Amino acid sequence: MKTSNKTFTVIAHRGACGYLPEHTLEGAAMAHAMGAEYIEQDVLMTRDDELIVLHDLYLDAVTDVAGRFPGRGRGDGRFYAIDFTLAEIKKLRVHERVTAVDLPAFPGRFPVGKNLFSVPTLEEEISLIQGLNKSTGRNVGLYIEPKSPAWHEREGKDLIGSVIGLLAKHGYTGRNASIYLQSFDMDALKRARFEFNTDLKLVQLIGENSWEESEADFDYLRSEKGLEEIARFADGIGPWLPQVVETSADGSADISDLTELAHRFGLLVHAYTLRADQLPSAVGDMATALRILIEQCGLDGVFTDHPDQVVRYLRADRKTWENSREPGV
Ligand code: G3P
Ligand code: CA
Repeated sequence: MKTSNKTFTVIAHRGACGYLPEHTLEGAAMAHAMGAEYIEQDVLMTRDDELIVLHDLYLDAVTDVAGRFPGRGRGDGRFYAIDFTLAEIKKLRVHERVTAVDLPAFPGRFPVGKNLFSVPTLEEEISLIQGLNKSTGRNVGLYIEPKSPAWHEREGKDLIGSVIGLLAKHGYTGRNASIYLQSFDMDALKRARFEFNTDLKLVQLIGENSWEESEADFDYLRSEKGLEEIARFADGIGPWLPQVVETSADGSADISDLTELAHRFGLLVHAYTLRADQLPSAVGDMATALRILIEQCGLDGVFTDHPDQVVRYLRADRKTWENSREPGV
């Protein structure tokens, strides 16, 4: 969306997951209706090679898998999606995310006890978004993260290749397609660009090395040399919000040079994850957070659990912008 002086992209993180359980078709439809420009999908592969939309490698934090399939967990007690067929996964009920001790991860959100939802396939979600685009005349895009491609490879699955194949089947090819592919795994993105020769827009996610999200050295990737390397295969970076701005106790923003540096190499910056119910206490409200992210940091977009609030802020800002123009301009 247009802001006072630039475009700012609203990416609904795992659907409208501030309001409905993450990665459900219902949540994606809500995000579409709220005016998000892209809707995010984390994607995994099942035992029978189907692509499903799910964040964790395992099913237990958002479904009733432990009760329905007792004894199917691995040694670590987790129920991995890759150990189940799609038919089995379709029998599960999805609920709001819970912690390791079965408490709501976000107590103010949709009630955990309401198991009304199911795990969608990527193909179902594409069909929903394309259908809504037709009926509303909008062009909302996908923002896909094939989750842990190296782990899938060790399990004998080519996740990146399968995702790119399915996307091509549904018309997502070329630079102008309404889609981004994102990954923490630099080798997977390079494979997408140079082995599968995709010209879809690619975004290198940047985390902290301590998270062990991939083999990538995120300290290096945030450096000038790292960003220069990213610019050879990707269109943007997706840093964690604290890598872009930290807020001190008095509410002042300590802005890093990452966004400016990335822009110097022609890279977009879409940061994650803005949550209205998890703002730093010194920031206080979404409008203040967005003013800092847009006007002071110069971000190009944000992943958010609350797309309606970002859209509302941008629309209000546009009104101010339109009203402030000289007559006749
Ligand atoms: O993909 C951007 C952001 O979603 C990365 O974090 O853990 O929510 O997939 P995660
Ligand atoms: Ca993600």
